[in-house]
Amino acid sequence: MQFDTSYFDAGIDRIGTNSEKWDDEAICPKGHVPLWVADMDFACAPAITQALAERAQHASYGYTFAGPEDTGAVRAFWQRRHGVQLADEEVGLLPSVVSGLRVCVDVLSKPGEGVIIQSPVYGPFFASVRDQDRQVLDAPLLRGTDGRYTMDLDRVEQHLKAGARLMILCNPQNPVGRCWQREELEALSALLNRYGCALVSDEIHADFVYKPHRFVSLLTLDSPPQQLVVLAAASKTFNVAGLQQSSLLCRDRALMDSMSAALNRHGVMAGNIFALAATRAAYTACDDWLDGLIAYLDGSREVLREALARLLPEAKLTPIEATYLAWVDMRAYGLTNEALYQRCMEAGVVPTNGTFFGQESGEGFLRINFGCPRSQLLAGLERLAKAVKG
Ligand SMILES: Cc1ncc(COP(=O)(O)O)c(C=O)c1O
Repeated sequence: MQFDTSYFDAGIDRIGTNSEKWDDEAICPKGHVPLWVADMDFACAPAITQALAERAQHASYGYTFAGPEDTGAVRAFWQRRHGVQLADEEVGLLPSVVSGLRVCVDVLSKPGEGVIIQSPVYGPFFASVRDQDRQVLDAPLLRGTDGRYTMDLDRVEQHLKAGARLMILCNPQNPVGRCWQREELEALSALLNRYGCALVSDEIHADFVYKPHRFVSLLTLDSPPQQLVVLAAASKTFNVAGLQQSSLLCRDRALMDSMSAALNRHGVMAGNIFALAATRAAYTACDDWLDGLIAYLDGSREVLREALARLLPEAKLTPIEATYLAWVDMRAYGLTNEALYQRCMEAGVVPTNGTFFGQESGEGFLRINFGCPRSQLLAGLERLAKAVKG
């Protein structure tokens, strides 16, 4: 099968499947164009569907454990695609990256302590910290005149001086689309190591990087953080988030044991039969689908850039180095986020409100998910232009 433009242009009808993106009426009323939550409107790779169908055919769905072929598939994929070498004991499986974030906060910090994050960033980073009685220590990213964001290491250091011992990084970054470079990550790691601060690197968007950029995992640094946990998943890459499986990658055996103990304590188990079968297939037999997808999304970046310039010339598109999410500065139109979002709803388009990623750093911004057929993206952008122009 060819995973070319026409394959991805065809998309897939998800209405009526309890799709969070399409069917949650409170967020996306019928007829609206959804450009919000980060999953994609493409059929997943046929090898995944086949693996699920084969497993479903065998009418035995009892308690199941993840075996070496499951961790092995994760290891082989990360070695092949990202040059990360891992031993079997360095890979743990868990239901979702967000459950991993929460366990990391539990194990690597204490109630009352601060945890460093860099807004604007994926909303559940805030909740993973706050819900467990820790404090968010924000070191907001700096936005350059070209709209490209960089890390504010001085601000990170202020928090370290004040005692922070855990940081959560989004690599590559959702929503600002940065693919952090090796030098930036080495500098961050050196700083964290000076203060004995642990790092959790959420690398769920690792596979969505556009040339000439190259994804750099924290696990490949010359001097990685002394305490490092990487969270990864096939869920975004292969569009199987509904199956709920992710991986925790950690070279520190004692830390890995603590993570496993914490997962057990909370009764969090991986071993969903279908998620295991689908993830094995995704990591072993779907590279051609993934390569086709990245080529399509790369082209969609251009479609988006061109359409925004034409329809909303005052909107500033943040350079997209990675992810299928566009971070758009709408401040020139002088609307509050509340008003802008309200108008979007009236015009029948659903982007993600920028403030989901940080009250201050998201004000005036919208996030647009372009992981969909280009016809859907263009229809949504036309409605967005109508919304803004009133
Ligand atoms: C940075 C980041 N981490 C985690 C998640 C969610 O992962 P999961 O569904 O495995 O909890 C997302 C989803 O958008 C994300 O963007």
